[in-house]
Amino acid sequence: MSAPTNNPRLLAWVDEASKMTQPDHIVWCDGSKAEYDALIKITVDGGMATPLAKRPNSFLFRSDPSDVARIENRTFIASKTKDDAGPTNNWVDPVALKKEMRKLFTGCMRGRTMYVIPFSMGPVGSPIAKIGIQITDSPYVVTNMHIMTRVGVRVLEVLGASGEFVPCLHSIGKPLLSCQDDAGQWPCAPLEKKYIAHFPEEKTIWSYGSGYGGNALLGKKCLALRIASVIAREEHWMAEHMLILKITSPEGKSKHIAAAFPSACGKTNLAMLVPTIPGWKVETIGDDIAWMKPGKDGRLFGINPEAGFFGVAPGTSIDSNPNAMRSIERNTIFTNVALTEDSDVWWEGIGYDPPGKLIDWTGKPWIQDKNNKSQSPAAHANSRFTAPAAQCPSIAPEWEDPAGVPIDAFLFGGRRPSTIPLVTQAFSWNHGVFMGSIAGSEITAAALDLKIGTVRRDPFAMLPFCGYHMGDYFAHWVKMGERTPPASQPKVFYVNWFRKTKEGKWLWPGYGENSRVLKWIFERCDGVGEAVETPIGFMPAIGAIKPPQGVSEEDMKQLLEVDVEGWKAELEDIRNNHYPKFG
Ligand code: GTP
Ligand code: SPV
Ligand code: MN
Repeated sequence: MSAPTNNPRLLAWVDEASKMTQPDHIVWCDGSKAEYDALIKITVDGGMATPLAKRPNSFLFRSDPSDVARIENRTFIASKTKDDAGPTNNWVDPVALKKEMRKLFTGCMRGRTMYVIPFSMGPVGSPIAKIGIQITDSPYVVTNMHIMTRVGVRVLEVLGASGEFVPCLHSIGKPLLSCQDDAGQWPCAPLEKKYIAHFPEEKTIWSYGSGYGGNALLGKKCLALRIASVIAREEHWMAEHMLILKITSPEGKSKHIAAAFPSACGKTNLAMLVPTIPGWKVETIGDDIAWMKPGKDGRLFGINPEAGFFGVAPGTSIDSNPNAMRSIERNTIFTNVALTEDSDVWWEGIGYDPPGKLIDWTGKPWIQDKNNKSQSPAAHANSRFTAPAAQCPSIAPEWEDPAGVPIDAFLFGGRRPSTIPLVTQAFSWNHGVFMGSIAGSEITAAALDLKIGTVRRDPFAMLPFCGYHMGDYFAHWVKMGERTPPASQPKVFYVNWFRKTKEGKWLWPGYGENSRVLKWIFERCDGVGEAVETPIGFMPAIGAIKPPQGVSEEDMKQLLEVDVEGWKAELEDIRNNHYPKFG
């Protein structure tokens, strides 16, 4: 197949990669439906994918148990010096790493097809968008990239002969001997051979051995966060692990809120929220990543660089997130959820009992046993759906506006069972930066190699995603504030939907009821919301947030109290353990 580009750098790179990886065939992807269908057919015929009877054009994949989430200790920032990667990233010497990885990449695509995927993060041709080219030997990855990014010939047109792109080299790391096939098994390399590597000075990505999510869909965390955060710092903009939502008051006034919560801490849900308070409306711009640049008037304008949702399945139901449920009715790829006998999907928290016997995410028969508290779940805790954003009923009409939307407020948050109140507003931009820098959460199943449930600090929800020294990243936030006229600075808030009682029950119902907090934030941005000044920030005055049904005045008091003892311990930890790391 002749290459559909005359970009010499692209041609040279593809040539070099193919000589190293030695695929049987090379295919340049055009992003068409025919291409998508053909690739899906390959995976269905190969026994990797199951068509779902109840959902048109939708498929279930089961991955290898070693390949179910991001793997933080196999993710590397290979900057020239260790200091540039900082204290929170895995650093390796780029020369040594390339030597090691070249050995792995050599011949790794034998018996397979190399796909070259031209993709745009952000609307094609938008001044905020960036072009990436991913090379991969996984048809699953290509189909997911079709949904998650804008793939195709239009991207190569914008790239032209001299345009810039981020080279993203990927292999699942499982070459095939002649006459061998995958036999219906998810192909990947063993854990110790998986590498998700970033070269920030070169702005290139090398990923080997994993086919799952952020490890393999390289436009997402690798390009749009780790590499983009490096570019953003150089070019004075921001690449953040944030959803963007548009909220409209009963009077028809709209604001845009960007919110950073760690993985599996509620971004998708907040982005698609259905308000429980009458007259208010929330629409979705993006659910995971925001790129924001200062506009002519000094305000920050944000885009969603993605085109789809790679959302957590467990806990998603018609009650908790009807917009997500309707987004995944068709044209959706499911990974590691359970399969019903009538060929539909099921997961824990879908809102109804399994309709009979299931096949669990490992491919084994599974029957619900409500008496067995330790029964392993039918769907993996990090099972996900990949769905086109355009299918979401709450998608905002301007979600693809190449100019982006003006950002009025930033929210930080995470899963904190105690101490952190429902909502606090920062006194100033820099106080907000401080809030972001100390953000923390209980660890979730979104990373494979960490202890679930323990609280760790996850500054700005960027701990696993910042491509450079986290201390320099804090400084970048401070500088962005200095570059923005105070009146144009987004107001900053810290929220926590995850407070628990001593008995371990949620103190706050969350989901749609979070609209009560968004309303107060909206009003604060307008300068009308009633607040009291406390040592930790502005907080809602008594009665400023009406408690939802089932939340007593007593609960509300607890949700909005300043826990002096808790904060003293928090400060001690920040002073002694957290801040000293960053110099
Ligand atoms: P990533 O895609 O990993 O970055 O995650 P995310 O931040 O988009 O998380 P998501 O919205 O998918 O939520 C993850 C889990 O948290 C799901 O199981 C949700 O049901 C649950 N969740 C979301 N919002 C709330 C909330 O307000 N309260 C409670 N209790 N749980 C929530
Ligand atoms: C996350 O872990 O924050 C995700 C999923 O959004 S993944 O794309 O796999 O990183
Ligand atoms: Mn995420």
